[in-house]
Amino acid sequence: MDNFLYRDGALYAEDVPIAEIAAEVGTPFYVYSQATLTRHFQLFEEALSGLPHLICYAMKSNSNQAVIKVMGDLGAGMDVVSGGEYRRAKAAGVPGERIVFSGVGKTGDEMRLALEGGIRQFNVESEPELDLLSEIASGMGAVAPITIRVNPDVDAKTHEKIATGKSENKFGIPISRAREVYAQAAKLPGIDVIGIDVHIGSQLVDLEPFEQAYLKVADLTHALRADGHDIRRLDLGGGLGIPYERSNSAPPLPLEYGALIKRTVGDLGCEIEIEPGRLISGNAGLLVSGVIFVKTGEDRDFLILDAAMNDLIRPAMYGAWHDIVPVREPAAGFEHATYDVVGPVCESGDTFAKGRAMAPLAPGDLVAFRSAGAYGAVMSSEYNTRPLIPEVMVNGHQFAVIRARPGFEEIINRDTIPKWL
Ligand code: LLP
Repeated sequence: MDNFLYRDGALYAEDVPIAEIAAEVGTPFYVYSQATLTRHFQLFEEALSGLPHLICYAMKSNSNQAVIKVMGDLGAGMDVVSGGEYRRAKAAGVPGERIVFSGVGKTGDEMRLALEGGIRQFNVESEPELDLLSEIASGMGAVAPITIRVNPDVDAKTHEKIATGKSENKFGIPISRAREVYAQAAKLPGIDVIGIDVHIGSQLVDLEPFEQAYLKVADLTHALRADGHDIRRLDLGGGLGIPYERSNSAPPLPLEYGALIKRTVGDLGCEIEIEPGRLISGNAGLLVSGVIFVKTGEDRDFLILDAAMNDLIRPAMYGAWHDIVPVREPAAGFEHATYDVVGPVCESGDTFAKGRAMAPLAPGDLVAFRSAGAYGAVMSSEYNTRPLIPEVMVNGHQFAVIRARPGFEEIINRDTIPKWL
């Protein structure tokens, strides 16, 4: 469910016609619905009701200040993976006590930043990280609350580039060695061991891998408690998938995921954290683009858009599917056209879809990529000196540009020509 629906033949974001935003900000642009963001957060709140919990929004999926502010105002915590994300969360008003710090390569400076500014916990991923954190925290006279991320060696059955819970992946400590590493951690100065962390991957469309992982975490909780650790918090990661191809997928709902959490780890007396990103921001955003040309090739037609792989890299990077819909609603019973949907960038990888059946389109028409609110704007670049595209937020009848398109002068002036040239 989202708030991008056709009304009187035109696609709307909540109560604002997409075409009206396009006329004001120009294409391409991202548009987010505050109502959808809010609803998705609340679905997780309902799913975990009855358990002590904190939903830590994985802001890597969409870290615009306005999006973080919407989440923060709803009471969300944040899952951050860099000093930059930590700063963004703080700048949007999220208190340190609600920020968890994940990631395999935290630097000493990032650790210091978080210890100074306040942190809920570090999710530690290796022994060298544990040693460095201990050194830094004790040097500051501080105590770092930590969980250790365990790698449960579970197949998440998702795209290989976003699976993280198999032993061959770089993430976490093998669960088989967890007791040994917890024993070391407990002896280190400046470290307070409070829980366990696990995250097995992203865009999971089956609950079974979660179940396997969470049952292993439950067993480990008992074992670590028997070893004398006060395990009081479980961070269960993110990863619940969304229906990118609406006609043909129906991933599990947050409520079913919540029931699974309650069934597997709900009776351990732990505070539960989850780190959803995509399910909150993904279907809360569209990428809106204009048709530049329709080009007839030898054996196919190309729909050439003004958005490109630099604006939305998921199709090029993961072969990901995004539904692409016309902003003007096609007449009922229209005869579809078939296009390779491409952008203007100078490589064949700049292809959004091949042989896609769609309503016939003409230059100047607008299209919207659905499910583009997560891992869209945040993964964009200025490849081909195409400026980062604007982001817009809608709330009812109002909309605001929440990141403006940079001017070319600004882009060019970021470079410096050295003195000797
Ligand atoms: N927690 C941790 C430790 C993570 O690494 C991630 C995602 C999340 C939570 C949030 O997962 P989500 O609920 O969003 O699935 N760029 C890729 C996705 C990369 C996900 C990385 N980690 C894509 O466009 O599909």
